[in-house]
Amino acid sequence: MSGSEIWADVAADVDLTVAPEQRRRIGVVGAGAIVDNAHLPAYAAAGLEVVAIHDLDADRAADVAARHGIATVHSTLSAMLDDPSVEVVDVAVVAHAQPDIVRATVAAGKHLLCQKPFTPDLQTGRELVELARAAGVHIAVNQQMRFEEGIAAARSMVERGWIGEPTAMEFRTNIATDFSQWPWLLASERLEVSYHSIHYLDSIRSILGDPERVFCHGGRRPGQAPRAETRTMSTLVYPDGVGAVLHVNHENIAGDVRAEFRIDGSEGSIRGTIGLLYDYPHGRPDTVELFSRVLPTDGWLPYPVTRRWIPDAFVGPMAGLLAAVAEGGEAPTAAADNLHTLALVEALYASMQTREAQKVEA
Ligand SMILES: NC(=O)c1ccc[n+]([C@@H]2O[C@H](COP(=O)([O-])OP(=O)(O)OC[C@H]3O[C@@H](n4cnc5c(N)ncnc54)[C@H](O)[C@@H]3O)[C@@H](O)[C@H]2O)c1
Repeated sequence: MSGSEIWADVAADVDLTVAPEQRRRIGVVGAGAIVDNAHLPAYAAAGLEVVAIHDLDADRAADVAARHGIATVHSTLSAMLDDPSVEVVDVAVVAHAQPDIVRATVAAGKHLLCQKPFTPDLQTGRELVELARAAGVHIAVNQQMRFEEGIAAARSMVERGWIGEPTAMEFRTNIATDFSQWPWLLASERLEVSYHSIHYLDSIRSILGDPERVFCHGGRRPGQAPRAETRTMSTLVYPDGVGAVLHVNHENIAGDVRAEFRIDGSEGSIRGTIGLLYDYPHGRPDTVELFSRVLPTDGWLPYPVTRRWIPDAFVGPMAGLLAAVAEGGEAPTAAADNLHTLALVEALYASMQTREAQKVEA
């Protein structure tokens, strides 16, 4: 098989097209940077219609609405929820404000997509999942890294058996993140795992499933601006000797930034880079290469990545929610599934505090 024949199957697996009959009119809560740079450009490119927006900062909402062609700016959340033209609500606010918005939206009977982290703690997550189940409302979580092309292509290669049985997965990220763009994060008691590694954890779960035990060390750079941990070393242990490791540092002062991932298997390996993290939030496409004894490849075969994490991957969680709303079933990042990602986050913080490995319990 030629490279183009091999990659045609993977390209079909990573396609994020939303069928016209699944599209619903969206109302957005929050008009911050991520909505401006990622949610709205991604939805426009996918043919999804955003009909209304609300933010506590009315000027910000009006500015974003004007630039993205959104017809209605609602001054309150209840006005947004009473608006019959809004069929699905997309929430992207500071994490601690999200649960109250979810409770009100579920009470209004509207399906919704929430930003990650879904909730500040696992118990609140469980409560919201139960509320939504009782109301017959779908909640999905915006864990979009599992849909970004490099990770989605790697998952497709693993599922096709091209590296045999997966044995290990790793993310190694060493970057300089300017956390001052999120003033609320500077003061947060939790940082790296809750807001950044959570993407890697969810991506690993989408490929390897749920680990049994974890260990995590979290640290800070003396003099750093954020209050909480900015360097973490996490180990995830699976049955049968499978493992995953995350080594992440946001306080690189030397300029040699890197963001790499790798999956090893019994018959091959996949290696790549996370383009977004070399130039946030503009980024560049990822790189992905496959070494396979199954196909086989002649050494490392590059996969032609054409899309970026921001904005392209942001279609994924919304597409999954819309498919679940239209056809039933669960979205890939349904809130009930996301409890397992939150449980991993909780276990890693428990390990950081106790300095002992922790069992993961959703
Ligand atoms: N890749 C990703 O998935 C990604 C990247 C960045 C941020 N985020 C998440 O998205 C969320 C927003 O991040 P951001 O970068 O846009 O932050 P931001 O600070 O730029 O914007 C947040 C906005 O929310 C508004 N807001 C706060 N509380 C509100 C409330 N109760 N009702 C209505 N509006 C409210 C604020 O006025 C502000 O405009 C956060 O949860 C963050 O963790 C995710």
